[in-house]
Amino acid sequence: MSHISVLLHETVDALLADRNTGIYIDGTFGRGGHTRLLLSKLDTNAQVYAFDKDPQALEVAYQLEKEDPRFKIIHASFADLQQEMNQIGLFEVDGIMADLGVSSPQLDQAERGFSFMRNGPLDMRMDNSQGPTAADWLMSVDEEHLANIIYQYGEERYSRRIAKAIKNAGYITTTAELAEIVKVAHPKWEKNKHAATRTFQAIRIEINKELDDVHAFLPQATDLLKSGGRLAVISFHSLEDRIIKQFIQKESTLAEDDGWGLPQKIKDTRKLKKIDRIRASEAEVKENPRSRSAWLRVAERLEQKGTE
Ligand SMILES: C[S@@+](CC[C@H](N)C(=O)[O-])C[C@H]1O[C@@H](n2cnc3c(N)ncnc32)[C@H](O)[C@@H]1O
Repeated sequence: MSHISVLLHETVDALLADRNTGIYIDGTFGRGGHTRLLLSKLDTNAQVYAFDKDPQALEVAYQLEKEDPRFKIIHASFADLQQEMNQIGLFEVDGIMADLGVSSPQLDQAERGFSFMRNGPLDMRMDNSQGPTAADWLMSVDEEHLANIIYQYGEERYSRRIAKAIKNAGYITTTAELAEIVKVAHPKWEKNKHAATRTFQAIRIEINKELDDVHAFLPQATDLLKSGGRLAVISFHSLEDRIIKQFIQKESTLAEDDGWGLPQKIKDTRKLKKIDRIRASEAEVKENPRSRSAWLRVAERLEQKGTE
């Protein structure tokens, strides 16, 4: 089962900005689509480090390590980017990218338990070597907290009814069982959307701490970039995209003055310059419908002035 990389050329071109050497990080290796294209455009002195938490993604990456001495995989969350890079003695890089969310193999393999379309154990962990499964978490969480998660991360307005039905069901072992419970509890059908879509998204985000990881990643990535280095992040839903957009907005806007009204008192703490935001082309969406909701945002590291 393969993964079709989204916004492949757009992301790599934006990351490189015409460079052909340097040190780069791919925060989400997946099946290595972006990493491989990046390596193909870099010279022999370049280095590419990639992160992934999924043991199956790591298997593919270990193979690439054998094929290409410029590449190194790190089994960790991109939320620990700075610590992991510092540990190997790297404090500055030329470009950092992330292609958030789940990979197609994760969704397609029933045994990973991500999909209501394929019956499997209710797992949903990207790193299935640690942490509670979705089944265990649903058993331990209280109804009110569950409803809040489904409401916030799934943007599901029937979150209370669904949470109640889930908690009344006892231990739920399979994705099909959960999908059926949600379907029965859900009073309305949305066109082209299974009733469980939003609830599955919410539980997946919670189990994998997806939004917390993005919040942790962005400032660390920014601090690791050299002046002129690029940050390129692809997201697939509005909750993630909002975090990225607001972060870039904040880091690229001149802070308010200190109230004294004297321009020379304004401290320029901007770290980023907005470069671009890109959506998949019609042709790409036709070829790969998963790219329909993708947003690529690109920013460039500014030299820290900090002048007063
Ligand atoms: C959309 S796929 C990346 C696909 C990749 N760009 C390609 O072209 O093959 C996302 C990958 O990121 C991984 N991932 C998600 N969140 C992560 C995190 N916080 N830390 C490390 N890896 C993560 C997932 O396990 C998955 O393999």
